[in-house]
Parts: sequence; C-alpha cells; structure tokens
Amino acid sequence: MTTVRWNEGWRLGVAKMDRQHERIVGLLAGLESACAGGSGEALEEAAAEALDYIDYHFTMEQRLMEEWDYPELGEHVDEHDDYMVQAADDLAMLQDGAEPAGAVLGRLADWWAGHLAGPDRRLAEFLREHGVK
Ligand SMILES: [Fe+2]
Repeated sequence: MTTVRWNEGWRLGVAKMDRQHERIVGLLAGLESACAGGSGEALEEAAAEALDYIDYHFTMEQRLMEEWDYPELGEHVDEHDDYMVQAADDLAMLQDGAEPAGAVLGRLADWWAGHLAGPDRRLAEFLREHGVK
C-alpha cells in the first residue's frame, strides 16, 4: 500500500496554499487509513471529505489567480478540473473495489506531487513576486 505523507519540499512559501496542501495530504492519508480499516462507511466519509476540501482549495487558488491576473490561469484551472473528474472516478472505484486500493491511492497522491512541483510552484513564485506570502 502507498504511504501518503507530507513532504517539506512541497512547501511553496504562500501560507494559505501551503496550509491547504498540507491538509489535503492529511486527508489523502486519512483515506488510506480508511481503506486499510475496511469500513465502507468510514471510507465513504473520508472520500467525500477529501473531495469537498480539494474542490474548496481549487476554488481558493482560482480566486487568487483571478485577483492577481495570473497569466497561466487557463491551463492551471484545466489541470484542476481534470483532477476533479479523475478523483471522483477514483474515489468511486475505491469504494466499489474495482481496482486495488494501493494503485488508486497512488494515482490520487502522485498527481499532487507533480502538480505541486510544477504548476503550483510557478503560481506561488508569481504570487510571492506580487507580495503574497
Ligand atoms: Fe493548483
């Protein structure tokens, strides 16, 4: 089973983003524990909570991008939208057991590693240049 853990290298220097990213990793770790625990109800709750919070976080980032007229807004929001579709599918799959949980969790978490290292890092650099901390 994958182990989802916060990595300090993902810290981007914009407090609101960092705080929410850390929470998301925590929610994914909670999802992993719920899978291991074997309770369908706990898994459903953890999946709904993660999806809701990720949606809330993406909306927050989109607002920041709009506020600061971020030039990569379109591509960045497309990535978020794609992930919401993928995550909803993956979470449904976790609940019906159509694919091994480790593979699904790995896919859900790996996306974040790539997104934090690429698009979110560029966004945070842009925001910091504009004085957002
Ligand atoms: Fe993002």
